[in-house]
This record gives sequence, structure tokens and C-alpha cells, in this order.
Amino acid sequence: MGLGTIATVGAGPIAACVDEEDLKEDKPKIFTPDYSDDIEDQYPAERNPAFADVPDREVTPEDIAAHYNNFYEFGTDKTKVWENAQTLVTDPWTVKVTGLVHNPITLDLDDIHLKFPLEERMYRHRCVEAWSMVMPWTGFRMRDLLDFVQPMQSAKYVRFVSFFRPSEAVGQRELTNYDWPYYEALTIREAANELTLMGTGIFGHINPTQHGAPIRIHTPWKYGYKSIKSIVTIEFVEEQPETFWHHQWAEAYDFVSNVDPSKPHPNWSQATERDIGTDEEIPTLKYNGYGEWVADLYE
Ligand code: MTE
Repeated sequence: MGLGTIATVGAGPIAACVDEEDLKEDKPKIFTPDYSDDIEDQYPAERNPAFADVPDREVTPEDIAAHYNNFYEFGTDKTKVWENAQTLVTDPWTVKVTGLVHNPITLDLDDIHLKFPLEERMYRHRCVEAWSMVMPWTGFRMRDLLDFVQPMQSAKYVRFVSFFRPSEAVGQRELTNYDWPYYEALTIREAANELTLMGTGIFGHINPTQHGAPIRIHTPWKYGYKSIKSIVTIEFVEEQPETFWHHQWAEAYDFVSNVDPSKPHPNWSQATERDIGTDEEIPTLKYNGYGEWVADLYE
């Protein structure tokens, strides 16, 4: 089974921090984790003028973006992820930055939000399943983290690992054919690219759990599955690491996974995509429209 296929997952228990009565109301809610005032004061962050908007695209309404998610740890029904994800406890949280670096560090919740300058960027988000959205993400440049940890000469790749907590994640309990926890990787040059963001927020506030609280990545020129959510480990390594979806189905999900309208998925075309906000079918752009920032990485 791969991205784009359907399986049924039951609803998990609801975390104590969410009022169950709220969940029963008709209109789906957007819950953000309740972190300290120091952290909440960082939002909204200033928007980077280089990524102030996305030409010829409308911003996807938050209500739609927050209730149509891929996060297999919380099941395969995109319309239920927001609800299932309320069981994930993200406070406390640590991200261990380790491997071939001169200055390893473990980031706690304060470090995640306060150590590096946060900014907001409007990015296109293109899923391999041929749908897309446009959203304002908040985060810090991965390059700032690289500057801090000082990768060794021998470090060629950065590997990211998400959490493994079956008791909090219904998909990890029930989708047992997946190789949990979710793991992804980039080359060092991709990680250091101007576009690569460590995402801490969306729509001017802290990430709701369904979007990958407390921290995920954004690589907008790649298919969305490279943007791993709820990261607990970042490791600098010498050899190209295996990735979660490549392990699942190698022919469909390669390491690079750049958005490319001329390269179909084995089961569908990648020439067009459906904008989830407007419901329009639009042409897919090479590198998702970000060639000026990244094309030189692949020459
Ligand atoms: N990260 C984890 N840990 N688990 C996942 O299943 N799905 C990926 C990516 N990151 C996924 C993940 C996929 S396929 C997509 S399209 C995006 O998250 C969806 O991000 P969004 O729900 O915030 O729009």
C-alpha cells in the first residue's frame, strides 16, 4: 500500500488537553498546542518579502488546510487526521541533532521556537497524489541550524526521524505494514538551500498537531512526503539514507522526489494537480515553480 491508497483506521482516544464536547460540534476546530507565553509571543512572525505571496494562486483557506492532511501516524483518512492527531503530546518535546557534527545539540521546545529567527513564508505545497495548497508557514532556515551544529566534512546527508509512540498514534498501532517511525532525508546541499525551512507554525500561529507540531520541515520544490512532520532526531551521515516511502515502494518514491510534471507516478500523471482550495485543475510546474532557487543543485 502506498500514498494514494485507502485503509480504514479507527479513532483513537482523545487527549486530555482537548474538550471532547468541542470535537463533537459540527464545524471542525483548529487546536494549537498550549506552549509558554514566550513561545506564543513569537507569532505571527514577520513575512519574508522574497516569499510574500505565490503569483497566480490563492491562499488555501486555513479551515480547509487544517482538515485535509497526510500524517499516516494518524490514519489514512485525510479528513480525520486533524481529530486523530489530538492524542499526540508535544510538550515536552526534544529534537536531538547528532551524528557528524562538531557541535551536537538537543533542542527543547523553547530552543525550537526561540533559538533561531522565525519568519513567515507563503509556499506552494504539492503532494505526490496530485493535489496542492498554498499556505503561510512559519519557521527558521535549516541553514541556521547547520551553521550552529557545524557539520563535518564527511557529512553528506541529513536524516530526519519522526516519533514512535503507538499509544498516542492510532496509525502506528493499526497500520502495522509500515516501517515506523517515519523517516526522511536530504543531501547537505538541499538542507542548506535558502528554501529549506524548519517549520514551527502555520497561518500565523504554532503548528497544530495535524500539521506536524512542534517541528517539521518544508522543502517546497519536492513532493510533500519529503516534508517530515513532528521530528525527534536530525542526524548528519555520510551515506545516502533509506527513506520511509522509498522503503515502501521504491519505483514510485525515489530519494530526490523533486516535483516534475514530466515524470508520472506509476499509477497516475503528474502533469496537473488539483488546488484543494479552489478545486481547479492546474498545470504542475517543474520544481513546483522554485527552479530559480534549486535547479543548480541538480545540474
Ligand atoms: N510526516 C510524517 N511524520 N508522517 C506522514 O505521514 N506525510 C507527508 C508529509 N509529512 C507525513 C509527513 C505527506 S505525504 C504530505 S503531502 C505532507 O506531510 C502533508 O502536510 P500537511 O498535512 O501539513 O498539508
